[in-house]
Amino acid sequence: MKDLSGKHIVLGLTGGIACYKSAELCRLLIKAGASVQVVMTAAAEQFITPVTMQALSQRPVALSQWDAREANNMAHINLSRNADACLIAPASADFMAKLAHGQADDLLSLLCLARPLERTPLLLAPAMNREMWQHPATRRNLDQVIRDGACMLGVGSGEQACGETGDGRMMEPDEILQELIAFFQPKVLAGQKVLVTAGPTYEPIDPVRGITNLSSGKMGFAIARAAREAGAEVTLVAGPVSLTTPQGVHRIDVRSALNMHAAVMQQASTASIFIATAAVADWRPASAAEQKIKKDGSGNAPELQFVENPDILATLAQSERGQSRALYCVGFAAESHDLQAHAQAKRLRKGVPLLVGNIGPQAFGQDENTLLLVDEQGCNELARDSKLSLARQLIANIASRLSTGA
Ligand code: CTP
Repeated sequence: MKDLSGKHIVLGLTGGIACYKSAELCRLLIKAGASVQVVMTAAAEQFITPVTMQALSQRPVALSQWDAREANNMAHINLSRNADACLIAPASADFMAKLAHGQADDLLSLLCLARPLERTPLLLAPAMNREMWQHPATRRNLDQVIRDGACMLGVGSGEQACGETGDGRMMEPDEILQELIAFFQPKVLAGQKVLVTAGPTYEPIDPVRGITNLSSGKMGFAIARAAREAGAEVTLVAGPVSLTTPQGVHRIDVRSALNMHAAVMQQASTASIFIATAAVADWRPASAAEQKIKKDGSGNAPELQFVENPDILATLAQSERGQSRALYCVGFAAESHDLQAHAQAKRLRKGVPLLVGNIGPQAFGQDENTLLLVDEQGCNELARDSKLSLARQLIANIASRLSTGA
């Protein structure tokens, strides 16, 4: 099952240089399982040809409200009735001005106006020069379209085709795809503030060496993404990993367990859910050497002294907010054997209502995993699946515990 399986998307292109990115977006939508009907305005045709969009979408592109090939000659009705969403990317300033006024003099604006408001959502990925984006007329039009029920996906920032730098670029195709997938997920964590730790920590020995572990951060990043898709405001405190930040997630990069502890403590007072997926180093060298430790020729290894790191999860779970469940704490356990027994013992030791166990060597670095959910009642296994799918199941599980007070 792909993320957009069974979804039919009307992909509208309006006039803007970002139309070249819409070709890639169309491919991504198809790869994610959607069927895509492209609709282009005359201005969009100045930037990319319908031939390209037809080849990528595998359907003739709809271009005119006067196309007599439609049996009832009502393309605007037919197109807007069977779509799960209308996604306009790029949405030009001019097109948003038309939407704001309910103008309908071409097929795309006509079908936006004709769509059933309660059934066919309208999502906009604007693209324009930064001055046009800031202009009071654009702000006004945007406010109006949002009030009329459209969903604004946001804009990118940076270098623009015109050579200027600022806000107003179209979001990247992959970002738009993630937003669309998120749009269809149930908003079971709306209003919640979720704090997630992910990845390994790195404990320095000297300026060039340190101790770390094999955690890739993938599970924690998937959980942050799933929580955000479920409507939560998400902060992700990440150890050293090379993963892309999930769309819409606030990321704080840290290195050592002490850094992670400090970052989490700062965020925790405003969070309502804490999910500790990070593989935090249990110990750190008592003092990191300021200069690289050299071999002294004796053949002996240097003697390292270790001290224990603070337990971030236990500290929060056993705090007043953790105990009263104002902050709902979820722990993870990476074990090598006897998962159920270790996970249950760890849950009690940490003082968390829910602990998620997995077998470290079968999880670290992989795209798939198996999770064992352990609570006061016992345990429940989530069968092997992609980490994102498991993350969504875990988020749904946490949401139902919150709503039932379990
Ligand atoms: N954890 C934490 N801070 C630490 C150590 C662990 O927040 N200093 C969290 C992890 O993010 C995870 C849970 O505690 O959610 C369990 O981590 P794990 O390393 O499996 O447990 P430990 O308490 O370190 O126990 P052990 O290594 O002895 O199995």
